[in-house]
Amino acid sequence: MNPNADLLNLREKVALVTGGGMGIGEAIALRLAGAGAAVAVGDVNASAGNAVARRIVEEGGRAMFVQMDVADLAQHRSAVDAVTHGFGGLDLLVNNAGVFPFSPAVDTTPELWDRVLSINLRGAFFLTTAAARYLRSSGTGAVVNVASVDAFRPTGGHAHNDASKAALVMLTRSLAVEFAPLKIRVNAVVPGGIDTPGARSAMGGSVPLASNLAEAFLQRIPMHRMGTPDEIARVALFLATPLSAYMTGALVVVDGGYLVA
Ligand SMILES: NC(=O)c1ccc[n+]([C@@H]2O[C@H](COP(=O)([O-])OP(=O)(O)OC[C@H]3O[C@@H](n4cnc5c(N)ncnc54)[C@H](O)[C@@H]3O)[C@@H](O)[C@H]2O)c1
Repeated sequence: MNPNADLLNLREKVALVTGGGMGIGEAIALRLAGAGAAVAVGDVNASAGNAVARRIVEEGGRAMFVQMDVADLAQHRSAVDAVTHGFGGLDLLVNNAGVFPFSPAVDTTPELWDRVLSINLRGAFFLTTAAARYLRSSGTGAVVNVASVDAFRPTGGHAHNDASKAALVMLTRSLAVEFAPLKIRVNAVVPGGIDTPGARSAMGGSVPLASNLAEAFLQRIPMHRMGTPDEIARVALFLATPLSAYMTGALVVVDGGYLVA
């Protein structure tokens, strides 16, 4: 009998992962399902989200797809209802959905600012409050926010994203304090550069600013490589399980050494 097995066991738990259709969110959905959780893959992209849910089921796990745009607060309640009706509760929420298009500050429109903030920050806050009732009755409820090293070290061309992630860091701490009496832990994983479809498109060669930044970014990573989505997912799994039972309001940086260099 493996004495560590219980610490990684999410059987009987239900998780909602936003942006679970690809990239980091997909990897987190797969890891949580691998630990036995029933996983609701929340995504605005139906084909991507359905494919991840299908894969989990084909591999013997429990999963459902929930179509949702986290920027649309009206969809939060219906998404939480769909999960709790489908799986009988909600124990784990992963606020992963995020967008990070490059735009020089002087070219950033109020519309772009609002879009980024409404997905990365406002969506995470209001979805967490919509889910809190169920997380609270779980007794071992946990929220994992996906922040970013951009909250601590700006690269340029990303002020809107950097501001949203810095605020998400403080949101993690604020809600950790407020939710501790409810037995809901709130932590954040802080990824560095991770090779995902979103990162490829944000750092794509078509925008000179972005491709120059991508090169400079890589050179500042002591481990000299981008991370994989699963390297973030393993830490999200840690923050979702009893392995981290006494952690709340914590930030776990997973960046190949980028922030200390
Ligand atoms: N990739 C990186 O280098 C990196 C670094 C630091 C932080 N992050 C953060 O990790 C998270 C995931 O990033 P990624 O690189 O996997 O992105 P990605 O673009 O590869 O995947 C994002 C997923 O979120 C979904 N999504 C986007 N907007 C949504 C919305 N409004 N509602 C619901 N779903 C939505 C997309 O459809 C997609 O499936 C983001 O919060 C991002 O800021 C990424």
